[in-house]
Amino acid sequence: MLPEKIFIGIAWPYANGSLHLGQIVSSQLPADILARYHRTKGNRVLMVSGSDQHGTPITVRAEQEGRSPQEVAAQFHEEFLDCWQRLGITFDLYTTTGTQNHASVTHDIFLTLLDKGHIYKESMPLPYCPNDRRFLPDRYVEGTCPYCGSAGARGDQCDECGKTLNAAELLEMRCRHCGTTPEIRQSDHFFLRLSAFNERLKEWVSDKVHWRKAVLNWTMGLLNEGLQDRAVTRDIEWGVAIPLEGYENKRIYVWFEAVIGYLSAAKEWAQNGGDPDGWREFWQDGDCKSYYFLGKDNIPFHTIIWPSMLMGYGDLNLPYDVPASQYLTMRGSKASTSRKWAVWLPDYLSRYDPDPLRYCLSVTMPETSDTDFTWADFVRRNNDELVATWGNLVHRVLTFNYRHFDGAVPQPGELDEADRRLLERAEQSLAQVGDEIGRCHFRGGISAAMAMAQEANRYLEEKSPWKLIRDDRQKTATALYAAIGAINALKTAFYPYMPFTCQRLHGYLGYDGPVQDSGWQFVPPPPGQSIAQPEPLFKKLEPQIVEEEEARLGQ
Ligand code: MF3
Ligand code: ZN
Repeated sequence: MLPEKIFIGIAWPYANGSLHLGQIVSSQLPADILARYHRTKGNRVLMVSGSDQHGTPITVRAEQEGRSPQEVAAQFHEEFLDCWQRLGITFDLYTTTGTQNHASVTHDIFLTLLDKGHIYKESMPLPYCPNDRRFLPDRYVEGTCPYCGSAGARGDQCDECGKTLNAAELLEMRCRHCGTTPEIRQSDHFFLRLSAFNERLKEWVSDKVHWRKAVLNWTMGLLNEGLQDRAVTRDIEWGVAIPLEGYENKRIYVWFEAVIGYLSAAKEWAQNGGDPDGWREFWQDGDCKSYYFLGKDNIPFHTIIWPSMLMGYGDLNLPYDVPASQYLTMRGSKASTSRKWAVWLPDYLSRYDPDPLRYCLSVTMPETSDTDFTWADFVRRNNDELVATWGNLVHRVLTFNYRHFDGAVPQPGELDEADRRLLERAEQSLAQVGDEIGRCHFRGGISAAMAMAQEANRYLEEKSPWKLIRDDRQKTATALYAAIGAINALKTAFYPYMPFTCQRLHGYLGYDGPVQDSGWQFVPPPPGQSIAQPEPLFKKLEPQIVEEEEARLGQ
C-alpha cells in the first residue's frame, strides 16, 4: 500500500499568555495523537502551527505591561516551544506569524484575491474613541451583543452566543481603555466577498458526512442564514502590512492572516528542508487529507472563511476534516487566558509527568459535549487506571519474566485456548484503536486500549504464573510469552496517547529506536529477545494534591 498523505494544521495560539489545558485538549493533543498514529502506520505527515503574534489580544497585554507587542509575543513563543517539547507535541514546524515568509505568503493571497475580485475596498462605519483619538477595533470596544443580548461582547465576537460581529453593531458601546462612549466614523477597508462563496461552500460541505455533528450543524446554520462580506483590514499599527500604497496606518486583520499561516508554515518547512517545492504534496495533491484542530469558537474561521479564501485563490486543498472540540470547563466555566481561569500548562509540567495528563485529557476529551476537568478525577485516573491497571500489568509481567526467564522472551509451548484468545484480542484491539484514531474518535481509541489492558490483567489472574511456575515451567513460559505479546500490542496502541512511557517500555521489551519505526502492527516479540527489568511506568499521586491544586485555581 502506498503511504497516505496527511496534513495537520493546529489553531495558532495567541502569544499573549501561558497555555492552558483547554487549548491542549482541543487542539495540540488530538492533533499529536493523529500525527503519531499516522507516522507509525508509515504515512507521510506534515503537522504545523505557530504562535499568533498579532491582534488585539497581544496589544492589550503589551499596553497593560508597558512593553512592546513584539516583546510579549517573543516571550510566550519561547515558552510555547518549551511546552511542546515537554508535553511531547511533535510539530514538523512550529513557527510564528511574525516571519518575512508569512508576510509574503499573506501578501500573495491578499493581492490575488483582490485581483480576482474576491476582495474589494469600501468605506465603513467604525467606533472611534474621541478621548484616545483612535479607532477601536475588536477587543478595544465592548458592549451588548445585538444577537443574544449578553453584556461583555467584544468588537469581533460574542463569547456567549459565538457570533462573529462587526464592531459598529454592538449596543451600548464603550472604549475598553477609558470607558468613553465611542463615536462612529468612516474608514476605508478591504472586504472579503464571503457572500459570493455561500453556494459553493454549501455544496462543498454537503458530502462532509464524516464531520462531527456540531461542526456540520454550526457551519450549515451560518450558510443557511447567508454569509455577509467581512472586513479583512483594521485601523491598527500591529500586524501584517497591507501591500498597497496609502494604507500605512492600517493592517491586515489578524484572523485573515493567521489562517494563512497553515500554508506559509508548510512553505517555511519545505524551505528549511532544502526542498522549496516540498509543500506542494500536502497542498496540491488531491489525495492528501487535511485536518484542522481547534476549539469550537474557531469553527467559522476554518469551515467558512479559510475555505472561501482557498477557493478564491484556487489550486489548494480544502479541509478534509475540522474535528473541532467542545470546551473543557473548570467548575463549570470555560477555560480562558484573558479571564485567568485555567490550569496552566507550564505549572502542570513543573510538577507532574506529561503522560498522565495526556491520558486523562484523552479519556475525557470534549469531543461531543463540554467536559469538566477536576484534579480529583486526574488523581483517581492516574492511580486506578494508569498505575493499577496498565502500569501494574507491565510491571508484574516484565519483573516476573526477568526473575524467572533470564531476561528474555521465553520459548512458548503449545498455546491453549486462553493464550490464543488473548493474542487474537490484542491484535483486534490494536486494529480497532487505529481505526478510532483515524476517524478522530480519540476517546473511543483510548478506551478500547484500556479495555484490552483490563482483559490482559484478567488473563494474568487466571493463569497466575507466580503459582504456575511451581509445577509447570513450560506452561508458565507460554503464558508469559502471550502476556508479553499482548503488552507489546498495547504499547503500540497507547503510544500516540502516552509517547514517553511507551517509548520507555519499547526499550524494556528489547527494541532499539523509536516506537514509531516498528509500525502499527501486531508482532509479538520473538522468543530469546531480551527483556529488561523495568522501572514502574507511572508514579502514584498523593490524594492531598487535589486540595493543593484546587486552591491554585483562579490565582
Ligand atoms: N489565535 C487564535 C486564538 O487563539 C486562533 C487562530 S487559529 C488560526 O483563538 F487559524 F487562525 F490560525
Ligand atoms: Zn477611549
